[in-house]
Amino acid sequence: MQETTNLKKNMSVQACIEQVQKLVAVSYPCAKAYVHSFGCQLNVSDGEKIKGLLQSMGFSLTKTHEDADLIVFNTCAVRESAEDRVYGMLGVIKKYKETHPRTILILSGCMGSEPKTLQKIRAHYSFIDILMGTASIGELPRLLAAYYDTKKFVYDMDSTAMPSEQMQQIRTSCFKASVPIMYGCNNFCTYCIVPYVRGRERSRKPEVILEEVKALIADGYKEIMLLGQNVNSYGKDLEQSISFSELLQQLNQIEGEFIIRFMSSHPKDATPELLDTILSCEKIGKHLHLPVQCGSDAILSAMNRRYTVAQYLKIVAYLRERQPDFSLSSDLIVGFPNESEADFQGTLDLIQRVQYDNLYTFIYSKRSGTKAAEMPDATTDAEKRIRMERLLTLQREIATKHYRRFIGKMMRVLVEGESKRGDGWLFGKSNEAIIVEFLGDRSLIGTFVTVLITESKNWAVSGRLIEHERKEA
Ligand code: SAM
Ligand code: SF4
Ligand code: F3S
Repeated sequence: MQETTNLKKNMSVQACIEQVQKLVAVSYPCAKAYVHSFGCQLNVSDGEKIKGLLQSMGFSLTKTHEDADLIVFNTCAVRESAEDRVYGMLGVIKKYKETHPRTILILSGCMGSEPKTLQKIRAHYSFIDILMGTASIGELPRLLAAYYDTKKFVYDMDSTAMPSEQMQQIRTSCFKASVPIMYGCNNFCTYCIVPYVRGRERSRKPEVILEEVKALIADGYKEIMLLGQNVNSYGKDLEQSISFSELLQQLNQIEGEFIIRFMSSHPKDATPELLDTILSCEKIGKHLHLPVQCGSDAILSAMNRRYTVAQYLKIVAYLRERQPDFSLSSDLIVGFPNESEADFQGTLDLIQRVQYDNLYTFIYSKRSGTKAAEMPDATTDAEKRIRMERLLTLQREIATKHYRRFIGKMMRVLVEGESKRGDGWLFGKSNEAIIVEFLGDRSLIGTFVTVLITESKNWAVSGRLIEHERKEA
């Protein structure tokens, strides 16, 4: 979608940044901005770019909307509940704006590229000042300059442009960094809104990604999370031909102690070359997030996933033949239109066979504009909820047994923070993307440690700290 109001297209983005800077300095001394990102890591990464732009225009960042002169809701549209949450929170902001009328409210993210959002704003949410699509982030200075000029609602709902490489990010973590390697999606799974709000696949150039990762490692980052809706099709749209495996191999050559993770991988594009790369490159986490969505061929076909259960299991077998305890996680949708008890049983069988370490499970949510929204559905919501409970119960049983395989093993862990257990317990993520808890000093946060695993639960393991990062030993 490329709908836009008449922006300051005659001015460069830099000129708009300077214009807003001056205006902010005069009218909003100590201007503060609050950015709230919903949804996936890609959206959070976009939120970090929005923060970077706002800072370049003179705003400092605040952690609550309550003292903000500018509020950004960077939204997610993947499920009905995600949108409801945003509309619920907008009610709170409406009240805030009644007492702070000069505060600017911006709606960005995936809802910002949905045509129905514009209609809703016009009909019910006229207190929103700026609407910005997923590919319009670079236009923020123009939108703000135009808004300051007219004090009237402005919008740019683009979802198709290639984001500028010049945008600085304000990263939340100083040791974990998300690096989008591509934008958009070509797959049109019939339940999914993402291709409509994020546009077609656009890969970033490999040399730009390599430079960014090198700079991050030089700055002390320890985890690089490569992001894309289907990283396995990375590079297919570039003139210079490069596959995702080749990109991974190049990143693996960068010197330094760090771990590379990535998501998401579409099973239809998971080649043996990619699997071999994951298994053989020492800096790549020994884990694959491989969303299966369901365990019935009929439903997979209705979802337009373009693989069968047998093909999916072949990928799992390839990995497990070479590394029997290889860690897998997945996304699953329960209650896709007309999912029968037999289809659902197929999903239960599949999770039993694969033995996932982690599952992200969702009850199907109807998204207007997608093909599945037109499909008849005889299964009741109550039945879908019961199926979800059955699925979660089985997964808890599987994970309880499956996590025991780590007991007695040494795990390399990137320490992420203090555990909710308190009393000196820390937590981190292992190479296999397993949550590991252990007793240790806070100073270890952001470093690699080795932990001997002594106990397991169905969502984490715990153990004894054996070794700190080499630089401290
Ligand atoms: N591109 C990723 C992939 O294909 O694996 C997924 C991205 S999507 C933002 C994350 C997950 O949300 C999907 O894997 C799917 O399980 C879930 N999802 C997407 N649309 C949904 C819907 N309409 N209802 C329920 N879950 C949905
Ligand atoms: Fe949505 Fe499918 Fe694209 Fe993932 S691959 S973003 S589920 S359309
Ligand atoms: Fe992500 Fe939600 Fe958009 S999951 S891509 S923020 S619809």
